[in-house]
Amino acid sequence: MTQNNREVFGSRFAAIATTVGSAVGLGNIWRFPYEAGQNGGGAFMLCYLAFIFMLGVPLLCAEYSMGRATRSNIFGAYRRLAPRRKWYLAGYIGILSSILILSFYSVVAGWTIEYCVSSMTGSLDFSDTETGHLQFLTLTTGWRPVLWTVLFLLCNTFVMLGGVTKGIERASNILMPLLFVLLIAFCVNSLTLPWRDQGLSFLFSADFSKITPSVLLSALGQAFFSLSLGLGCMLTYASYFSNNTRLGRTAFVTASLDSLVAILAGVIIFPAVFSFGISPESGPMLVFEVLPYIFSQLPAGVLWSTLFFLLLFLASLTSTVSMSEISIAFFTEEKKMSRRKATLVSSAIALTGGLFCALSFGPLSDFTIFGRTFFNFFDYFSSNICLPLGGMICCLFVGWKMDRALLKSELTNGGKHRFALLRLLVFFLRWICPVAIGLIFLNCIGII
Ligand code: TRP
Repeated sequence: MTQNNREVFGSRFAAIATTVGSAVGLGNIWRFPYEAGQNGGGAFMLCYLAFIFMLGVPLLCAEYSMGRATRSNIFGAYRRLAPRRKWYLAGYIGILSSILILSFYSVVAGWTIEYCVSSMTGSLDFSDTETGHLQFLTLTTGWRPVLWTVLFLLCNTFVMLGGVTKGIERASNILMPLLFVLLIAFCVNSLTLPWRDQGLSFLFSADFSKITPSVLLSALGQAFFSLSLGLGCMLTYASYFSNNTRLGRTAFVTASLDSLVAILAGVIIFPAVFSFGISPESGPMLVFEVLPYIFSQLPAGVLWSTLFFLLLFLASLTSTVSMSEISIAFFTEEKKMSRRKATLVSSAIALTGGLFCALSFGPLSDFTIFGRTFFNFFDYFSSNICLPLGGMICCLFVGWKMDRALLKSELTNGGKHRFALLRLLVFFLRWICPVAIGLIFLNCIGII
């Protein structure tokens, strides 16, 4: 279907499915449980949900409106809406963070391929906690993860080059609901584990004294990461929405489904963490250590495990496709490269970053930047600094600079529907979001 001379998604379902495809990925299933585990459980969860709905939903509306109003990528969108200003420079934060995220994300996606293959060949042995931990180390340290990272990036490049994005989307429309069903089944299973109550209370009962500046910053970073916000990813996707897509609703549905998946992942992981005696603070390896235990307790565990890691791999691919689009749009539209060359260049950069990240669990584990390994630094810097900063600029722009009539027309589809919350949205974009993000930043560097 074409509108305004541009290909658009055919149905409302397609618009929601693709944005949810971008949002749901390792961020929900791998990153959320480990961040929650390291940042006090319930306290983190509370802040995370507050940020999703108070900052995430308004920012989603802002990115959607900019994207559909201009039908362009992040640079084009800022330039079109403010031709003589330098707002478009925010696009560079987007490029930088999309490449950093792609680098470490591919390493974790590589682990999912490795776990999928090892489950299939029956070489995963998780009979007790020691073996589980050792197994993670053997699978992910040394040079092996490099191989899987490269493999994942090749898959991503293939999708971007081969023009099979449509195919991936169609497949994910069927497979993502399947992943959802699988998550619910595992949740039910986790609720039968002996230390269920400890796990659930860790996740759901908030101890307010645990809300420190760094917990706030991590929850903010996680909310933005999970919703793919702050680097123009949702903006670019919205440029393909049809004129009938209702932006406010799509934002709310995306945020709700996305946080639901994260909560389901938490409900699966934490009862198991306590039942199997694993530390919730294990960090990035948490989920990869816990899940195989869960599978080993299930009848036909090998089958579940293979299927789950396969679906997780696909969910990661729909997310990396969306983040690669940012740098590819930059190279094609700003640097006038062909799409093929742009894809190869951005894959090569991500591959270089990916190598450092992949090796930071093994040979490069002693090499640190500001006290963090490459992997942790890339993750921390992009998610906790770049995304909130990019998001803050977008809020300020839409709140203060974007023509109000245009914003209203986007949110009401040219006056066809009512959007009762417009004034509230603008108030949030002008004041609440930027001030909240600013305060969290200042709080973290110790200024207030
Ligand atoms: N949201 C995705 C996840 O949860 C990751 C992702 C895709 C992303 N595109 C992004 C994160 C853009 C930040 C920005 O797995």
